[in-house]
Amino acid sequence: MAISNTTNRILNFSAGPATLPEPVLQQAQVDLLNIGGSGIGICEHSHRGPVFDQVINDAVANCRTVGNVPDEFEILFLQGGATLQFAMIAMNFLLDGKSADYLDTGVWTTKSIAEARKIGNVHLAYDGSLTNYDHCPVDTELDLHEDAAYLHYCSNNTIYGTHFTAVPKTDSPVICDMSSDMFSRPIDWSSFDMVYAGAQKNLGPSGVVLVIIRKTMLEKCPDSLPLLLNYNAVAKKGSMLNTPPTFGIYLMGEVFKWILAEGGLQAIEKHNVHKAGMIYHALDSCDGFYTVFSQKQSRSLMNISFKTHTPELDALLIEEASSRGMSGLKGHRNLGGLRASVYNAFPVEGCAAFSEFLQTFAANH
Ligand SMILES: Cc1ncc(COP(=O)(O)O)c(C=O)c1O
Repeated sequence: MAISNTTNRILNFSAGPATLPEPVLQQAQVDLLNIGGSGIGICEHSHRGPVFDQVINDAVANCRTVGNVPDEFEILFLQGGATLQFAMIAMNFLLDGKSADYLDTGVWTTKSIAEARKIGNVHLAYDGSLTNYDHCPVDTELDLHEDAAYLHYCSNNTIYGTHFTAVPKTDSPVICDMSSDMFSRPIDWSSFDMVYAGAQKNLGPSGVVLVIIRKTMLEKCPDSLPLLLNYNAVAKKGSMLNTPPTFGIYLMGEVFKWILAEGGLQAIEKHNVHKAGMIYHALDSCDGFYTVFSQKQSRSLMNISFKTHTPELDALLIEEASSRGMSGLKGHRNLGGLRASVYNAFPVEGCAAFSEFLQTFAANH
């Protein structure tokens, strides 16, 4: 069952690639064929020509405006997904025999730790596996080293549906994987030295990664690194060392324009609190029929991981939801259960419909 009569689109709760803003997709349909009246589609333009020049310059400028990104930071577009960042961060900054503090809050940080260990010393400053990753730690739970090369953590754990409500306090540079909550709320840049995000949740299509990095960090990147793995080399060439992912950068730029049209990150955050709030309220108000995976204080606004009493009921919920035009609700294979991902572009009406459905399902079963 489609939720839109004009586009036949259904409600897509996928964790990523995920729902993108409809106005962006509509504009992309036009620009794929002929962008800006140039007679050539966005994917067909040379990355060295004036049309793409404008696209990437606008994307950087709009990213800066959306995120209120200070001049001390460079905005980069890279490839290789967030996963390549796990290795690149260590290659660029885990130097001189130092160790880096890592917070393990779930599958993605576990992977980032494994990659960093191939390059240098990792100090596990927080081990969330001991509590089955059911929350994000507060500062008193952390065992940070004073002279760490950096602290790496993930602000939103896509699989477990947990998020940090504050940036961990440390004197070391802070590097954050924001893949699943980038630009879902304003960012206090004084707390960060580098943030990165694979695009395919809140920013655009897969195949492009947004990196926002303090310029002083770039001075640390070793010249011995292959160029494409060296942040400083990428920055010097304006993310165009080689042919960049032109469509991904274009679409991200359109998403930035959309965020601005929606009223910016403060307005987006308000929407997100409201949207996730409706779903959590439904889950909490069914007399224990549902269990939310995350402890209350860490509940993510982007990914809502939960379950019913039995795997059979979980499967039935997915089946009934599917017949109502709701897809992508199966939980990650590591966790099981169910997961509703409601990123920036997921419609508020969809959250309302899902909340109602959750309550009806609980009443019927
Ligand atoms: C928080 C987080 N970090 C990293 C990744 C890996 O991203 P990619 O597939 O772009 O390498 C994901 C993917 O879902 C994620 O959710």
